Amino acid sequence: MDEDIEICKCLGIMKSEIVKTIKDKGLQTLEKVQDETNAGTVCGSCIPDIEDILKEINKKNIMKAIEILVKEHESILKIIEITTTILKKKDKAEINIVHVEMIIDFIKNFADKYHHLKEEDRLFIEMEKHGMSREGGPIAVMLFEHNEGRNYIKQAVEGIEKFKQGDDASFDQIKENLLAYCTLLTNHIAKENNILYPMSERIIPANVLSAMSDDFEKSNAKTPNNEYYDKYLKLVEDFSEIYRN
Ligand code: FES
Ligand SMILES: [Fe+2]
Ligand SMILES: [Fe+2]
Repeated sequence: MDEDIEICKCLGIMKSEIVKTIKDKGLQTLEKVQDETNAGTVCGSCIPDIEDILKEINKKNIMKAIEILVKEHESILKIIEITTTILKKKDKAEINIVHVEMIIDFIKNFADKYHHLKEEDRLFIEMEKHGMSREGGPIAVMLFEHNEGRNYIKQAVEGIEKFKQGDDASFDQIKENLLAYCTLLTNHIAKENNILYPMSERIIPANVLSAMSDDFEKSNAKTPNNEYYDKYLKLVEDFSEIYRN
């Protein structure tokens, strides 16, 4: 075990006390540590040490927001692979249309609502606050592609409705739009994983990324009836098994 040391000489506050308060209260900023412990509020010379302690404790949490998004990409890519396998079957009669509908439900909720909204309502906003333009450049491209994807899905859903009413020809509408979605999202995810996310980790401050990690975790755990895990991640697992080549 590390030897305890005095960090704030003015007030005689030990490292162990600061560490415990940060962990117990989930503190992520210097101001919060000062409010809770008073350390660093007299001469201020211990502030760099307090910041180092904060960074060390929150390091794992800082990475988590982007890890959560990358993991969601993995699930989306699995569903894309399964969709392609289903739609490329030569014999149309072999295609389980109920499974296609379940995939569309996954795309609308898991990919679009739970994943894309984390990007649109949080990550992109923070990137914008920290210097990136929303009007041009990578964020604008990502937003454009999210909308392009929504249009493909809207067309596919219309195709399914017609197909269920007996219009066999509308199967092509389902197939073309879903396959176009799969290609779009595969390229979109590669751009985010390789360019946009690393960029976000460089420009967004550590405490903001850390708070984002907590919010992403909470929002996943708080979906109605735990559907993020019990319905959508389970669907990926089940379909991966059914459509294993
Ligand atoms: S050493 Fe901590 S405020 Fe002076
Ligand atoms: Fe995206
Ligand atoms: Fe994404």
